[in-house]
Amino acid sequence: MSDAARDKANPFEKAAPSYDAAAVWQKDVARHLVSLARHDHPQTILDIGCGTGFVLAAARGRWPSARLFGLDSSPAMLEEARRKLPGLAAMEGDAARLGEAEAPFPLLREGIKEWGSVEGPRGPEGSVGSTKKTLAPLMTRETLFVTLHPSPSPSQGEGGLSSPRFDLMFSSMLLHWLPEPARVLRNWTKLLKPGGRLYAALPVAGTLREWRGLCRSAGAGDRLINFPPEDFAQGVAGTLELREHKSEFPGLAAFLQSLRNAGAHAPRPGSSPLPRAAMRSLLRGNENGFTATWRVVYLEVKSEQA
Ligand SMILES: C[S@@+](CC[C@H](N)C(=O)[O-])C[C@H]1O[C@@H](n2cnc3c(N)ncnc32)[C@H](O)[C@@H]1O
Repeated sequence: MSDAARDKANPFEKAAPSYDAAAVWQKDVARHLVSLARHDHPQTILDIGCGTGFVLAAARGRWPSARLFGLDSSPAMLEEARRKLPGLAAMEGDAARLGEAEAPFPLLREGIKEWGSVEGPRGPEGSVGSTKKTLAPLMTRETLFVTLHPSPSPSQGEGGLSSPRFDLMFSSMLLHWLPEPARVLRNWTKLLKPGGRLYAALPVAGTLREWRGLCRSAGAGDRLINFPPEDFAQGVAGTLELREHKSEFPGLAAFLQSLRNAGAHAPRPGSSPLPRAAMRSLLRGNENGFTATWRVVYLEVKSEQA
């Protein structure tokens, strides 16, 4: 895939260098999410959609001896996370497929040699495909057990493919980008160890209502994605909190730029851009300050096995 196509497919890829400076409130969300977790001595922690590592950095501060795993679809984001968090097992892959038993999960990138330090039960040789031969011996150890090989095999470690393996799992500010977030969340919990817990934070309906309102007032539609309703995970997860995070910007232009810098500007599929004249008028009318509200739900899922 060309660089341009990759950026289009995942706008976070291009935003990796500017993400930390733009994602100020996302950092607060990540820290808060980690503070909510109830576990004294987790050995293994997975952050799904880890980005540049806000959650993982907070997790390392709280549980310094835990082994950290990060999954993200953006190699550039993973590079940032790995730079900050030595020893991080960084995995590239699609979180929407994590926990799907039938998904042959190509999680790893070539060249991640330090994964040699990752220990765990071995799987069958060759179960990860011949194109990544150099990594196969590592991929068949603990790391790739999280990826669920397509067909179960008795030699694939304790409990087989769907055996839980993380004491703690986190995901901050990702689920709203994925189709069928409740189903995805349920699949993720298959990777918990008995007694493990998963914590997720994501913006829900009512988020960025100021921007939606402005577009409506201009007689135009906005291009925001449809944030899930706050109870979207009913029956799958418990709600710990629903918090509003407010950000003040010097003007509307700064708000829109910050969305781009954080990679969060992907339009809702099928939506049309605001007509130029309407956009100019909105920018002119909001030059002296703009407030944006994110309504963030914090969820907890306990592993089905105690
Ligand atoms: C808003 S950022 C959040 C990053 C980090 N969790 C944080 O709180 O700062 C969303 C992250 O999810 C990643 N992402 C988006 N779609 C994904 C997918 N389908 N699978 C895995 N990661 C994905 C992006 O590359 C990006 O790093």
